[in-house]
Amino acid sequence: PTTAAIIPAAGSGSRMGLDHPKQYHLLAGIPILVHTVRVFTSASCVDMIVVVVPAERVESTVNLMADHGLSGANLQVIAGGERRQDSVKAGLDSLNAGVDIVLVHDGARPLLAPDLIDRCCDAAIEYGAAIAAVPVKDTLKKGGPGGRILHTVDRKDLWQAQTPQASRLSLLLAAYDMAGEREVTDEASLLELAGTDVHLVEGSETNIKITRPDDLIIAEKIMQNHET
Ligand code: C5P
Repeated sequence: PTTAAIIPAAGSGSRMGLDHPKQYHLLAGIPILVHTVRVFTSASCVDMIVVVVPAERVESTVNLMADHGLSGANLQVIAGGERRQDSVKAGLDSLNAGVDIVLVHDGARPLLAPDLIDRCCDAAIEYGAAIAAVPVKDTLKKGGPGGRILHTVDRKDLWQAQTPQASRLSLLLAAYDMAGEREVTDEASLLELAGTDVHLVEGSETNIKITRPDDLIIAEKIMQNHET
C-alpha cells in the first residue's frame, strides 16, 4: 500500500521559552525537525513525506532540508494552521488520491527508530488504525480544587499516547468530517469519536516529545546513547 507520512511541525513552541520554534532547535548540532524527517526516510514503509511548518518558514525549511540532503518529489513542505489538527488537515488535503495509509508524527519527536514507524504501518494495514503508546508507569492522581487529590486513577490498562499514529487515509478523512470543529490533541481521538477501533503498538520510552527546555537535555543524552 502507498504510505504517506505527515509531520506536523507548525507549532510556535511557546512552552520552550525560545525565540524560534522548538522544532528548529539544534540537537547534536542538527535541527530537531531534520532528525525527525531523516528517520522517516529510513523507514521501509514510507513512500512520501509532507512536513507542515509555519507559513513564513516554508521556504527556509525547504532550504534547510536540502542542506541536509533531504529533497526530491517525495518530500513536500507546506504551511500549517492554527491548531495541530489544522496542520494535520492541511497535510491530508495535500495528499493525492492514491495514498492508502497515512502516518502522522510530531516534528518534535526526533528520537524514534524506523522500526516503530514500520510496526505502526503494519498494524494500520492489519487493523485499520494504530498508534504508538507506552504503558503508564507512574501512579496517577486526579487533582481537585486547592491542589488536593480527589482520588487515585488505576493505571492498569492505561497507556500514554505517542506518535506515529497510523490509519487508512479514508478512515482518518471520515473522522475529520465527523468531528467538525471539536478540539483534539491526537488523531486517535478523532478516530475513537468516529467509532473506529484503534490498535495500540508498543512504542518506546525514549520516543519523547521535546516540549520544555529540560527535554532537550534528556534528548541529547538519548541521542548520545543511540550513537554508542
Ligand atoms: O503542541 P504540541 O507539542 O502538542 O505539538 C505537537 C506537534 O504538532 C509539534 O511538532 C508541533 O510543531 C505541531 N503543531 C502544528 N501546528 C500547530 C500546533 C502544533 O503542526 N498549530
